[in-house]
Amino acid sequence: MVFPCGYGTNASVFGHLFGKEDLILYDALAHNSMVQGAVASAAAKRSFRHNDYRQLDALLRDLRPNYRRVVVAIEGVYSMDGDYPDLPAFIDVKQRHDALLYVDEAHSVGTMGPEGRGICDFFDIDPALGDLWMGTISKALGAGGGYLAGSDRLIHYLGYTTPAFVFSTACSPPNAAAALEGLRVICREPWRVTVLRERSELFLKLAIDAGLDTGPSGDTPVIPVIVGSSARAIRASQLLLERGINAQPILFPAVRESAARIRFFLTAEHSEDQIVRAVATMADVVAETAEMAGAV
Ligand SMILES: Cc1ncc(COP(=O)(O)O)c(C=O)c1O
Repeated sequence: MVFPCGYGTNASVFGHLFGKEDLILYDALAHNSMVQGAVASAAAKRSFRHNDYRQLDALLRDLRPNYRRVVVAIEGVYSMDGDYPDLPAFIDVKQRHDALLYVDEAHSVGTMGPEGRGICDFFDIDPALGDLWMGTISKALGAGGGYLAGSDRLIHYLGYTTPAFVFSTACSPPNAAAALEGLRVICREPWRVTVLRERSELFLKLAIDAGLDTGPSGDTPVIPVIVGSSARAIRASQLLLERGINAQPILFPAVRESAARIRFFLTAEHSEDQIVRAVATMADVVAETAEMAGAV
């Protein structure tokens, strides 16, 4: 199913599918749209530590018997940190506790796996082992909108009942056509994903060599440089822009104040020279703003 907006897909589906007899368990770093979806739902909800499938396992052992349905909400690639879940371990946990798995692939489709098909492609896992695969068509696919994929039966049901689908104007034809072409490019030109991976690895290696704090990012094109305060992140982003580099600051409350950062998104079209220059410029900017490390 394709929705006019990725945010609205997450924000509406949880409230629609899960009610007061159900439980939503979401990763502590899950995107705001999933958290808002959980908040809007009558279901019970709680978060588990980021990527911690062992804590999830323990929570399910305690809580599963109290609920009709339990859904576990995670991301394919985490949008702020550029890390990813151990998907096979999450699938194992969800299967043992008869829970549903909802994966937001906003940042993993078009970037992860040998063919860019997302986090299942990366782990070589059959998507039928999960339940709901959500994504946006506003990132790697370069258009605008969101989608949900799942079993025929579930999608058929959702297509007739999900308020954000039934009562909202559909994704526009230009967006749908652009998304379709984006998917065709990914299928036809898998070398783009290979180049993206190489360029992301290059950026990460250079950044680490330059002593920049890239947090847990790895294997993905989302690479943060943590600078430690929102004020410093804003200043760093301005200085980067003055030097021809567009990288946005991520501030509190999107992340902890002490984890404020500049977030770099790599694409297959960034050249090696651009990456070398971007990392060197970022290192200069970090040095120039050192006195702002703890500034609010
Ligand atoms: C993980 C994640 N999910 C959902 C969304 C919302 O998607 P959209 O921008 O297409 O509304 C975003 C970001 O924009 C995101 O990063």
